[in-house]
Amino acid sequence: MSTRKPYVGGNWKMNTGRESGPALAREVASGAAQHRGCEVAVFPPFPFLLAVGEALGARDSGVKLGAQDCYFQPSGAFTGEVSIGMLQDCGVAVVLTGHSERRHVLGETDAIVNAKTKAVLAAGLECVLCIGELLEEREAGKTDDVNERQLRAGLAGVPSEQMARLTIAYEPVWAIGTGRVATAVDAQDVHRKIRVLLGSLYAPAVAGATRILYGGSLKASNASELLAQPDIDGGLVGGASLQAAEFLPIIAAAAARGG
Ligand code: PGA
Repeated sequence: MSTRKPYVGGNWKMNTGRESGPALAREVASGAAQHRGCEVAVFPPFPFLLAVGEALGARDSGVKLGAQDCYFQPSGAFTGEVSIGMLQDCGVAVVLTGHSERRHVLGETDAIVNAKTKAVLAAGLECVLCIGELLEEREAGKTDDVNERQLRAGLAGVPSEQMARLTIAYEPVWAIGTGRVATAVDAQDVHRKIRVLLGSLYAPAVAGATRILYGGSLKASNASELLAQPDIDGGLVGGASLQAAEFLPIIAAAAARGG
């Protein structure tokens, strides 16, 4: 059994509203309090961060408030962007970087993902760095190359002492929101390779302590098998995080994994 504490994040993406967001947060907070063996974060849209933070805080649930994105500059003329200081002001503890929708829909490059990752960590926050291959990359046999490139680029210049606040999320893009999930064997194979690569970039102890989450159509019905794999330390959940009844069993499955 590893010493890595299981971790489950709910990425709400561009969903929920001013009332439904905090309501969902309250349900998640109540349920997650039964599974303290698993670390939990939710990532609501920016406009609802404060209200969701209040809903989580009122329950003293230990559920962390997360942000789906940030900008790496501290302030200035960047219309539409949100700085890390603003997120901290709203009580955010953890920020996603490099989500595939940011990379492939919004056009973020490896360099931008790296700048955001470094800025989040430098500010003292936790970061979940997302990587993963497209379907055509997998079919062309490039899965390992893509993950290696995104991991190396994303972590370029990140010092070892900040790695305790860094989590990786491996999310094969073809599995995100498609209902098509990686097999446990395939996902474990990629996770193991990511850990080996981490071991070449940092000390073996850092590689052994870094959590690697799986994401991509994770749901209550497939969580136990995936989360039982030795190098899968939890999950980043999109669609199934929008209903507490679907999300909470994933947290329970992760907690059952131990750590
Ligand atoms: P999904 O999304 O669970 O809806 O596939 C996962 C993610 O994008 O983080």
